[in-house]
Amino acid sequence: MTSAGSTVEDAPATRFARRARAVIPGGVNSGQRSVPGLTDLVITRADGARFWDADGREFVDYHAAFGPPLLGHNDPEVAAAVAEAGRHADLCGVGVTPGEVELAETLAELVPSVEKVLLTSTGSEATFHALRVARAATGRRLVVKFQGCYHGWHDSVSLNVISAADRVGGKDPISTGILPEVLDATLVLPFNDVTAVRRTFAEHGADIAAVIVEPVPHNVGCLLPEQDFLQALRDETTRHGAVLVFDEVITGFRHALGGWQSISGITPDLTTMGKAIANGYPVGAIGGRADLMDLFSTRPGAPAFFAGTYNGHPAVVAAALATLAKLRREPVHEHVFALGDRIRAGLAEVFAELGVPSVVTGYGSVFVSYFMTGGVPRGYDDLLRNDVSMFVGYRRRLIGHGVFELPLNLKRSHVSYAHTEADADRLVEATRAAVKETLASGEVAELADASTMGGAEN
Ligand SMILES: Cc1ncc(COP(=O)(O)O)c(C=O)c1O
Repeated sequence: MTSAGSTVEDAPATRFARRARAVIPGGVNSGQRSVPGLTDLVITRADGARFWDADGREFVDYHAAFGPPLLGHNDPEVAAAVAEAGRHADLCGVGVTPGEVELAETLAELVPSVEKVLLTSTGSEATFHALRVARAATGRRLVVKFQGCYHGWHDSVSLNVISAADRVGGKDPISTGILPEVLDATLVLPFNDVTAVRRTFAEHGADIAAVIVEPVPHNVGCLLPEQDFLQALRDETTRHGAVLVFDEVITGFRHALGGWQSISGITPDLTTMGKAIANGYPVGAIGGRADLMDLFSTRPGAPAFFAGTYNGHPAVVAAALATLAKLRREPVHEHVFALGDRIRAGLAEVFAELGVPSVVTGYGSVFVSYFMTGGVPRGYDDLLRNDVSMFVGYRRRLIGHGVFELPLNLKRSHVSYAHTEADADRLVEATRAAVKETLASGEVAELADASTMGGAEN
């Protein structure tokens, strides 16, 4: 079937994209999937380190769906586990399955803060419930988050992610339709700023229910946390009886099986997980201190309501178990960390050779190149110096070289177990070509204001 108005000359991707836009707002099913300059991208296949579009073009994928497929797309063992689960059971919605028990035991074993754990379908549900239970436990109203961190789409955290310069320091909701009193109840602080944390607790400590933080804010590329900052979060929340939530939806399993808390040695009260836990299947989790987790209404009569029709679906639980088993069994972290180092070193060399001011940073399998001077960024303010037009411009041109890094400002890139050294070297060479083309084109200024994530009227 073709949509009205298509012509015989249209490429398949263009035809599908037109049909998509007719019945799906913007033609995609999640914000930030429709990328300026790439509105006709229709993906038909993904495997290992690559995906293919409806016109048969092949891309080496470093976007990685914002992070889940740490093993690579369509990992055969994960796919087999899902198929096998489907032969035995599907969703029954009462009681528990052996797989859920095994997964909960595995998470309690791997993640230092997890004494008890509940499954969700997404990371947003996990962070939502973390804040709800923190408010239930403390009877307090306020939540603290940090500029540049993203914790999902729900109201309490839908502000101050990728903010335009003139919105930093104030409330910058990413959506309209949020009640002002909800925005009022979220305090936004600069990341890595111990003084701001101590001052906020001195002023509002008795009203703060929770501090939620991406221990490494990867939603703006990569800001590495200073140890005394994470320690100050731990100290102040403990001193004032607030709940510390590490949102490890990106860092969990990707940076270490025990998440950033196992790297930093700082244990939060609650941890939210998702993405790499099931290599792309929809699994989220919230775990932590047993006394907090026991407040959820999965215990009859407990006060913090918790539910989800699809929570613990046997197929996605099987995906998580197969993913975690492979991460434990095979040298996945060794491989992706080595490739990450190779890519960061190669990119830094290319930018230096081309005389382009840059900071190439990241951690392990995550890498990002900012175009700025002044050293490794500590907080979101520093990232305002990033040259957006170069950041977005060269990534758009990379696509022409068959290499995909998402062409939106500040987005990080990911290496998977399926990427090879040859892929890494090809990325570096494609980057050289794409940056040269961008420098030569001189037409990138129009991108300078592109891709903030906020600025809603509220
Ligand atoms: C750190 C972090 N927390 C929470 C979320 C929300 O997860 P989901 O998109 O699965 O709802 C995301 C998604 O990108 C994330 O990066």
